[in-house]
Amino acid sequence: MRPTQCLLRCILAVVPLRCSTTLASEHRPQRPLAPIQRLDEAYSNHEPLLSLHQKLVEIESITGNEHDVGVYLHNYLTKHNFTVERQSVGTVSDDLDSRQSNKKPRFNLFAYPGEKRDTRVLLSTHIDTVPPYWPYEIRNGNEIWGRGSVDAKACVATQIMAVDELRVSGEIKPGDVALLFVVGEETGGDGMRTANELQLEWETVIFGEPTELKLASGHKGILFFHIKAQGKAAHSGYPWLGENANSRLIPALAALLKTELPSSRKYGNSTLNIGRMGGGVAANVIPESATADVSIRIAEGSPQETRQIVLDVLNKVDDRLDTTFGEISYGPVYIDSDIDGFETVTVNYGTDIATLKGNHKRYLYGPGSILVAHSDHEHLTIGNLTAAVEGYKSLIRHALKQNR
Ligand SMILES: *[C@@H]1O[C@H](CO)[C@@H](O)[C@H](O)[C@H]1NC(C)=O
Ligand SMILES: *[C@@H]1O[C@H](CO)[C@@H](O)[C@H](O)[C@H]1NC(C)=O
Ligand SMILES: *[C@@H]1O[C@H](CO)[C@@H](O)[C@H](O)[C@H]1NC(C)=O
Ligand SMILES: [Zn+2]
Repeated sequence: MRPTQCLLRCILAVVPLRCSTTLASEHRPQRPLAPIQRLDEAYSNHEPLLSLHQKLVEIESITGNEHDVGVYLHNYLTKHNFTVERQSVGTVSDDLDSRQSNKKPRFNLFAYPGEKRDTRVLLSTHIDTVPPYWPYEIRNGNEIWGRGSVDAKACVATQIMAVDELRVSGEIKPGDVALLFVVGEETGGDGMRTANELQLEWETVIFGEPTELKLASGHKGILFFHIKAQGKAAHSGYPWLGENANSRLIPALAALLKTELPSSRKYGNSTLNIGRMGGGVAANVIPESATADVSIRIAEGSPQETRQIVLDVLNKVDDRLDTTFGEISYGPVYIDSDIDGFETVTVNYGTDIATLKGNHKRYLYGPGSILVAHSDHEHLTIGNLTAAVEGYKSLIRHALKQNR
């Protein structure tokens, strides 16, 4: 099927998720190829960092398909004298995985210099990306484009370089720092949930996500829900013989859009996104069912409070709607950011931070900007990559200086 047909099918069937995953695996969308470019000469002494980053971006690892990039990293880390453990993580849900005929095993990687797996500090980020795949490209001599170039393969590469450089210079010893690269962050965190089974504790965990080289002091929480309106099909010429499910869902969604949700000074307003809708089969048929997938980025309070607001609004409009809430939900997440020399920022995206259990201090830091992550123009500057290696080294040094 050509992408245009796929798009048409998707519009008709209102199943955009399938469309994007189909596109990702079978029909990588084409964008005009930029002329092949070289990096500016000035970057030649960063070759190890840049070639690791390039290799990671070149290996497609859309959630569910992380196997190959995991194997590459395992070999890379072993060559650099890390002890590497694979932690098996199950396959992703059928919805995401239907595109894969040959399911390869998925695994987290846990790596540390020397033999001591119990360390004081952990650096962690994710190796999966969102669809679709975009190839690696250099533009303007100092920009690197491609899926994952920012989120989060920039973090993977710079975290590894930071730890490796400190190891080679003798600033860290076995027992100081470990690396954890998880699968499945982009679709709810099954990799990080599994990482809890490592049964390890750390004083400090440094998470990698794009923060434009600032320390994030917190991020919003999240709540997912699915609304279903049930109707009764009939000929559209005789609407009284049926019940229109779309006509029941639309006022409910309209009421949600008008609802004031909790806000706070630190995070601003909670925001609501009606991300996916479906309903009916044809213009001349009264729709039998209608559905909507909605998420709220929570700026204040617990997910239960926001959940109650949603239920109250929906019940007032139509008490026969069927609303189910997603398994994953959390309120705003506090993150430590008490280190001199770093700017701080709050961010609106979710992370694995809340998923990793323990009483560790937590930091969130990484190269590149979230504003281009997940887009078709995902890219960052080489300056951001090289600065992040230094940034992670400072964070590790700071964490190791803390008293136990
Ligand atoms: C790895 O360790 C071996 C033996 O200790 C050493 O000879 C080698 O140089 C190390 N390799 C790297 C990349 O550090
Ligand atoms: C938050 O929402 C209120 C209205 O509900 C609006 O006036 C305000 O501008 C919003 N703040 C931000 C930061 O978007
Ligand atoms: C890093 O990237 C951000 C956002 O793209 C930019 O504002 C900042 O100037 C860059 N910093 C460096 C050191 O390259
Ligand atoms: Zn990410």
